[in-house]
Amino acid sequence: MSTESIRSMLGRDAAGGEGVVRGWLRSVRHAKGVSFLDVSDGSCMDGMQVVANPETEGYESVVRALSTGCSIEARGEVVESPGKGQHFEFHASEVLLVGGAAEDYPLQKKRHSFEFLRTIAHLRPRTNTIGAVLRLRNAASMAIHEFFQREEFFYLHTPIVTASDAEGAGEMFRVTTLPVGDPPRDEGGSVDDARDFFGRPTYLTVSGQLEAEIGALALSRVYTFGPTFRAENSNTARHLAEFWMVEPEAAFYDLSDLADLAERFLKSVFEDVLDRCEDDMAFFEKRIESQAIERMKNVIDAPFERISYREAVSILERSGEKFEFPVGFGLDLQSEHERWLTEKHVGCPVVVTDWPATIKAFYMHRNDDGETVAAMDVLVGGVGEIIGGSQREHRLDVLESAIRGQGLEPDDYWWYLDLRRFGSVPHAGFGLGFERIVQFMTGMANIRDVIPFPRVPGQAEF
Ligand code: 4AD
Ligand code: MG
Repeated sequence: MSTESIRSMLGRDAAGGEGVVRGWLRSVRHAKGVSFLDVSDGSCMDGMQVVANPETEGYESVVRALSTGCSIEARGEVVESPGKGQHFEFHASEVLLVGGAAEDYPLQKKRHSFEFLRTIAHLRPRTNTIGAVLRLRNAASMAIHEFFQREEFFYLHTPIVTASDAEGAGEMFRVTTLPVGDPPRDEGGSVDDARDFFGRPTYLTVSGQLEAEIGALALSRVYTFGPTFRAENSNTARHLAEFWMVEPEAAFYDLSDLADLAERFLKSVFEDVLDRCEDDMAFFEKRIESQAIERMKNVIDAPFERISYREAVSILERSGEKFEFPVGFGLDLQSEHERWLTEKHVGCPVVVTDWPATIKAFYMHRNDDGETVAAMDVLVGGVGEIIGGSQREHRLDVLESAIRGQGLEPDDYWWYLDLRRFGSVPHAGFGLGFERIVQFMTGMANIRDVIPFPRVPGQAEF
């Protein structure tokens, strides 16, 4: 059986060979004595134009009845195309209908709104845009693995189910097998967590970082790349309840080493994606965001600007801009501030370092000023924060008091603290939101349209 993809068939050196095209009809045009079938198998942006005529076996019985959405198999020959914009077309000697009539197929050859497409997430991968997004996600994933392998980071598989809140922000989904309506109770009447599956309360992870630190303090450099979950009720175009995060962690790294790594990393991933997704990127540039390729090239070429949070606040205060949210030392930067800094002020990616301890997680390394921590956010145009990371607190006593200071219980983090008892070393790591970087590359406005199956408050249908 032939398994040649349309991508490979369109990439053949010369016309003339036999072949089999299998896929789904994006559109059909029946003219007098000839039918044109635009067949896509998802392997690339372009479909194969399959031409059938009365000499084609199954012409009257199959081809003339075909409509958009049908799945077909065509046998025939690859020929030079007389049409503009395509190299080859396919002259069918036989066409088979594989899967039935596809009546009332909801996707037609016109532009559907992304809102509508989200309601048919089982079919939207067949559209140009979502197909391109999915191929780009694949290429970017591979580019990420290749970057870290080159830099001698080991891929570490951190757990999805966890007992600890890695961000200390209390935004975790509970994982339980206790009957929701009638859970077992202890003598005091509280739910008896000891009788839950793991003998204690467990959750979906918000970040693989704490376990990545375990890995880094043994293998020196590791990264995780997996799904993470946040039960935050933010209905924005940049937030998902389930998203994929890339988290490198490196022993003997300080904040400046980490910022260097983040810069090399983004440049390398963008170079690879531009290289491997030429057609898909051309599509995004034409149809979604006219600056898409330019923006990526800008990241590749420009050295990242580095400024401290303190400087960032003072620049924002002096900017004369009317922001919706207030700016001041001790306040988190909002997306409008992030975007102004990177888009208007410097015009390239910005690494904002040394944030107030009060607005950052417990595990970050305290700076000597007693006020800030060695944290960094990497900001890019269009999206804002794409990476968040820090040098970690490796001093046992300082970490313990930071955990207490945030109202958390040191005993819950005993093994994390143990890492500071047995061979502690300075180390650092960051988290990249995979969907945020895909948003940046594609220019897609809503994060729900750059993941195959978005999970947001009130939505988990597909
Ligand atoms: O800044 P965050 O919360 O950092 C951490 O979780 C660290 N433990 C990472 C580390 O140091 N290993 O999240 C990291 C990145 C953000 O910069 C953002 O790109 C993305 O994850 N992110 C989200 N993406 C989509 N939806 C959400 N709800 C996100 N929350 C964070
Ligand atoms: Mg962050």
